[in-house]
Amino acid sequence: MDDVKNNRNFLKANFLDLHLIQTDQQKNLPQPPLQKDSPRKTESIPLVPWHKIDLPIDSLKSCIEKRRSHRNFTDQPITLSELSFLLWSTQGVKEVITRQDRAYATLRSVPSAGARHPFETYLIILNVEGLQQGVYRYLPLAHELLPLFSDPELADKINDATFGQDFCGKSAAVFLWSVIPYRTEWRYSISAHKVILLDCGHVCQNLYLAAEAIQTGTCAIGAYDQSKVDQLLHLDGVDEFIIYLAPVGKI
Ligand SMILES: Cc1cc2nc3c(=O)[nH]c(=O)nc-3n(C[C@H](O)[C@H](O)[C@H](O)COP(=O)(O)O)c2cc1C
Repeated sequence: MDDVKNNRNFLKANFLDLHLIQTDQQKNLPQPPLQKDSPRKTESIPLVPWHKIDLPIDSLKSCIEKRRSHRNFTDQPITLSELSFLLWSTQGVKEVITRQDRAYATLRSVPSAGARHPFETYLIILNVEGLQQGVYRYLPLAHELLPLFSDPELADKINDATFGQDFCGKSAAVFLWSVIPYRTEWRYSISAHKVILLDCGHVCQNLYLAAEAIQTGTCAIGAYDQSKVDQLLHLDGVDEFIIYLAPVGKI
């Protein structure tokens, strides 16, 4: 029980301790990029811009009322317009803030401590109109999708990596959020880790509400095999690893 109680400390705000040390930002160390670099081996795919998304969207009141976790999806594909809506709702960039002529922060559709936004969004695309099955990464600064690789066993692999939660492999797309902890550690050092988790909850809640708004469902997944999911996405598991995932599909 002592181990369990000790782990509780992680949940406590430790911002007074932060004042005793110098963060990398205070040491004037270079800021990590706001978005992971995109290897230009493949062309990225433009998504539908937010102001051009023309979908029947339910009211916020009804989305909050209807919101629940969905674990049964139909075979109906989701459209690129719907995927664009879900991506923008969860990580869309509304403004880039510059300081001394350099991009310092982004303001997005979700809040983030210190506007650090430490997440990357990967997608396992299984049933989206106009997109080949495969793994993609969202490029929030350009609102584009970067195709990464394909694998004919993606559905089986994500089911296995989530301990047999096979509604993942039956979804239209699985959202997988990785964290690059240094983006937040650069500014908040030892106080980064609690706020990273708080940030992540906002992202997934926006996915729940945005999905409900377009007659689509999702289910947060916290129970997964860390190393299998990281290996599936070719992440190193130290400087970048998956922190949360959620399949979406028509209901
Ligand atoms: C952090 C977190 C992790 C979760 N992990 C799983 C999971 O691995 N599998 C699953 O089926 N549901 C998972 N859920 C969904 C919860 O079981 C669900 O939210 C809860 O039963 C309440 O149901 P509701 O969302 O329909 O209100 C998770 C939810 C959260 C917030």
